[in-house]
Formats: sequence, C-alpha cells, structure tokens
Amino acid sequence: MIKNIKGTKDLLPETTYNIQDIENHLNRFMHIHGYGEIRTPIFEPTELFIRSVGKNTDIVNKEMYTWEDQNGQSLTLRPEMTASVVRAYIQKKMWKIEPISKFYYIGPSFRRERPQKGRLRQFHQFGVEAIGSYNPEQDAEIISIAYNIYQMFGVNQLSIKINTLGSDDIRNKYIEELKKSLSKFKSILNESEYNRLQKNPLRILDSKNKDTQELIDKHAPNIFDYISIDDKKHFKKVLEILDAMEIPYTHDTNLVRGLDYYNRTVFEVISDALGGQDALCGGGRYDNLIAHLGGTDTPAMGFAAGMERLMLTMSLENNQNTQTDIYIINTEEALINESMRLADNIRKNLGLAVYIDSLRRSLKSQLRHANKMNATYTIIMDSKTIKDKTVIIKNMEENQQELIQIDNIISYFESE
Ligand code: HAM
Repeated sequence: MIKNIKGTKDLLPETTYNIQDIENHLNRFMHIHGYGEIRTPIFEPTELFIRSVGKNTDIVNKEMYTWEDQNGQSLTLRPEMTASVVRAYIQKKMWKIEPISKFYYIGPSFRRERPQKGRLRQFHQFGVEAIGSYNPEQDAEIISIAYNIYQMFGVNQLSIKINTLGSDDIRNKYIEELKKSLSKFKSILNESEYNRLQKNPLRILDSKNKDTQELIDKHAPNIFDYISIDDKKHFKKVLEILDAMEIPYTHDTNLVRGLDYYNRTVFEVISDALGGQDALCGGGRYDNLIAHLGGTDTPAMGFAAGMERLMLTMSLENNQNTQTDIYIINTEEALINESMRLADNIRKNLGLAVYIDSLRRSLKSQLRHANKMNATYTIIMDSKTIKDKTVIIKNMEENQQELIQIDNIISYFESE
C-alpha cells in the first residue's frame, strides 16, 4: 500500500468544510481591510529562497524540498510565501501601478521539519504583505490585522510579542557584540547552540534551553541599547498606535525571527493553547528585501500564520455541513434517466442540494441513507406514480408525504 508522506495530511470533508468556512471569513476580512488576494506558484527557483530567507537559516539549510528539473534548474517547493510575493511584485513592476500594494494569500507551504502537533511538512499559511510604506501605522495595521483575525475566530489566551531589530548596519554591530559576549561560555552552550551562535547568532536569543536563556539574561547585550534614535522613534510610534487600538502586547527584547530579511519591527502572536509550537503567526518589517532581490528600494511589512495552528486553537465542531435539501430515491432502472434529469433541474432552477444514489440500493437503505444525510425532503420515484406523471414528496422532519405532479415540483419547492 502506498501511504502519504510523513508530515502531510489528507483532509476529508468534515475538515475541509471548516477550512472553507475559515477561508470565507478570511476573504471577507481581508477585503474590508483593503487587501487583495495574490496567488503565486508553489515552486520557485531555489535561489529565490536562498537570497531572501537566508543561507544560514534552518529553513534553507535543512528544511527545503529542492530538486533539479530535466533542464538542470534547481527548483524548490516554497517554504514560505513572502519571497514569492516580492518576486512577483518586482517582476510585474507593481510600484509603477500604485505606490503601495496590499496583498493577502492562503495556500500550502513546505518545510522538512520533524512532524509533531502543529508542525507539518506540508502546512497551510495565510498572510498579508503591505509593500510601499515606511510608516509605523503600517506596522500597527499589520499587527492589528493578525490580532483581530484570531479575535474573529474566537481564539482566546492570546498574547503578542513585539520587538525591534533596528536597521541592518546597527544590527551587524550588535551581532558582533552578541557573539563576543556569549562565545566565552562555550562550555555551557551545547554544540548545536554554539554552532548557531557562530552561523546565525541572533537565533540564540530565542533558544528554548533554560541554561542558555539564563546565560542570555545575564550576559547578552540588549539590542534596544544599540538601535538608532530613528529606529526607537519608529518603534515607539508603533506601540502608541497599538495602545490607541487597544491591542495588547509585550515588548520582548529577545524576540528574533527565523528568517533573515527582517529589520525594525518583528512580532509573533502566541497562544498558550498550542503548547510547544506556540507561535500562531509571525512577521515584521523587511525594508531591504525588495532592493536585495533586484527591485527598487521599497519598504514592506507583513506576517504569515499557520492554518493548522489556528484550527488547533479554535473549538471546531465536526462540521457535518452536508445539509441535503432533497434526496431523490429511485430503485428502478427504467427511471434512471428521469431521476437524473429531475435532480439536475432542481439544482439548476433552485440551487438546492440534491443527492442521488448511484448504488441502486433498496428503498429501505436509500431512506436510511437520506436520514443519515439529514435530508429535509425525499422525492420517491416509482413507475406506478410516474404513469400518472406524479412523484411522492416526503417531508422527512414532519414525516408526512404527498403526491405532486412532476411539472409542479419546481414551484412546490419554490413555495416551501
Ligand atoms: P514563519 O514564522 O516562518 O514566517 O511562519 C509563519 C507561521 O507559519 C508560523 O507562525 C506558524 O504558524 C506557521 N508554520 C511555520 N512552519 C510550520 C510548520 N512546519 N507546520 C505548521 N505551521 C507552520 C514566515 O513564513 C514569514 N514569511 C512571515 C512573514 C510574512 N513575514 C513577513 N511577511
């Protein structure tokens, strides 16, 4: 038997109904905030992710699904969507159309991580990217969008962690200092953390290891002491707007992100309900990425959220939203054409959900199935009544039935 790949999931109707419902809410939510949907390809040239996410990140180093196609081009299944959105923005020269572009997306991403609750190898992200504004109100808008989405879905126990990474040049200075101050403690850090400190030093700050955390608290320099006056002003204004919007947050000076393209504001929305994988979503400013990938110098801010993690925190019912309006019961081969035509007619004229059995089951088992499917009505076709051009319509809830002329079926349901 061939099985699905570890860390991927088959989603069945009871789940996809919930997902569709969430997506409908998201579409509406994004629309009222002025964001339009962008859909980019699921695979891209590998170079795109190396240059944007960063060659020393875990994502690029060990988590990408990469292969060479028949022409020897290196391709990668997208591990995230920001890089693709920026690629499309540059390729289509969108700054020429509008000075600011606001996009949202929903779709699968791929990372070869160790699967566990809330962590998959094919997962689904929704997110937003606002490309064009340097201003702090843009940061606050993005953060409030993230927060309000979870509010809309009734997710409680939320907190927002926010930090600023300052500008690139200052951050490099800080990274040097961080390396210097913690490298002294090689004996306390385990091997992988020591290596991380050398290759991707900022990531040491969000280590989950207690000893390392203690070390950081005691000995690591604070990035806030390094950033410029302008960076501080920007950050202060972001917080001020969040206060005005009554969005709660905590300033976590150790918050850094796992992707290289950020500067200034970074944030994550955390839920206690998630346990180990507690980040519901994350994002921040990436003012240098567009120029870095060959576009004009354009600032940007965005976030992305895991759909699976959202669903883990929602109290979802097993949504058997398969409300069937009419179940057409036919047990006679001679009436197959007639019953199929009737089903189609009702769907086309009234838009009702009509189910028709294709197993040629007995009357009794079709009735049982109609009950199981919560059908409001059944139409029972049989050659005796068809001779008089009538069918039996049964109201399943009231357990009452009547004979109706075939020609009157549409008007019968219209008046119901
Ligand atoms: P990220 O923090 O790597 O950021 O991912 C965003 C969210 O995707 C996470 O908070 C989590 O909910 C979800 N996620 C990530 N990996 C997995 C996984 N293996 N299984 C399930 N869910 C996962 C980004 O991807 C950036 N592109 C966000 C961004 C947009 N920054 C600016 N604009």
